[in-house]
Amino acid sequence: MDIDFTGKVYLVTGGASGIGAAVVRYLAQHNGCAVIADINDQAGEALAAQYPQQLRYVKTDVTQLAPLGAACEVAETIFGGLDGTVNSAGIGSLGTVADMPMEEWHKVIDIDLHGVFHACRAAIPLLRKRGGGTIVNIASLSGIRADYGFAAYNAAKAGVINLTRTLALDHAQEKIRATAVCPGYIATPLTAAAGSVDAIHADWLARIPLQRAGTADEVAQLIVFLLSPASNYITGTEIVIDGGLGSSNNQPNIPGIFAAM
Ligand SMILES: NC(=O)c1ccc[n+]([C@@H]2O[C@H](COP(=O)([O-])OP(=O)(O)OC[C@H]3O[C@@H](n4cnc5c(N)ncnc54)[C@H](O)[C@@H]3O)[C@@H](O)[C@H]2O)c1
Repeated sequence: MDIDFTGKVYLVTGGASGIGAAVVRYLAQHNGCAVIADINDQAGEALAAQYPQQLRYVKTDVTQLAPLGAACEVAETIFGGLDGTVNSAGIGSLGTVADMPMEEWHKVIDIDLHGVFHACRAAIPLLRKRGGGTIVNIASLSGIRADYGFAAYNAAKAGVINLTRTLALDHAQEKIRATAVCPGYIATPLTAAAGSVDAIHADWLARIPLQRAGTADEVAQLIVFLLSPASNYITGTEIVIDGGLGSSNNQPNIPGIFAAM
């Protein structure tokens, strides 16, 4: 898929790694500009250096509103405005409601939910100046149904999905569209530790009809479609990209079991 982003400018939180970095690369390769808003200085600077005319790295902790305001200001002063934001900054965290440390709960909610709110709040005034724009929030399959031991992550990602619907309702008249992307198992640094455990990786593949992890580039393809005019009538919804992982009710594979008898 080739979409030309000439003259377009995007904020990409979490743009130094994984899915966010794949979006940044796509935009740069297709003539767009982006502000990489992340806390990973080394990776962010290195990516920006590959396309010095089109990319800027701005150290941005998404748990606070002010750094996102500063990142948007860079978009305006260096690139002349903002056409959309891809909110990909996120962390995972294991823990149950009963046992997880309170600080961990707050950390995950601060990054995964408040971070999205902060980015949208900072970006919307600039999108209004442009006469509209697009917001793509990276949620998760874990925001649609729950995963074992991911109390804070499940809650934050469910929050991102409903926040996205709210953004779509409240800002449609301003020609601002908002969508949530819900990946399943994607091979990125975020899943590298769990995916390196053979038993977990094998169990994942057994549950994914397409029998493999997705790639950051595959998710980026969906995101750039959602940024582009090709998706002009899509707003206020979540789109799953998971190789079929979420399509099952998790019931026994009855024909499979009979066939193996
Ligand atoms: N990889 C998957 O399987 C998967 C599945 C579902 C959802 N997601 C979501 O996709 C998004 C991107 O994940 P990824 O797989 O690319 O992971 P990743 O770890 O490769 O990238 C996440 C980026 O977020 C940045 N980040 C973390 N805390 C931050 C903060 N406080 N401020 C600014 N940036 C911060 C990190 O530095 C990193 O560059 C996340 O929101 C994640 O929850 C990923």
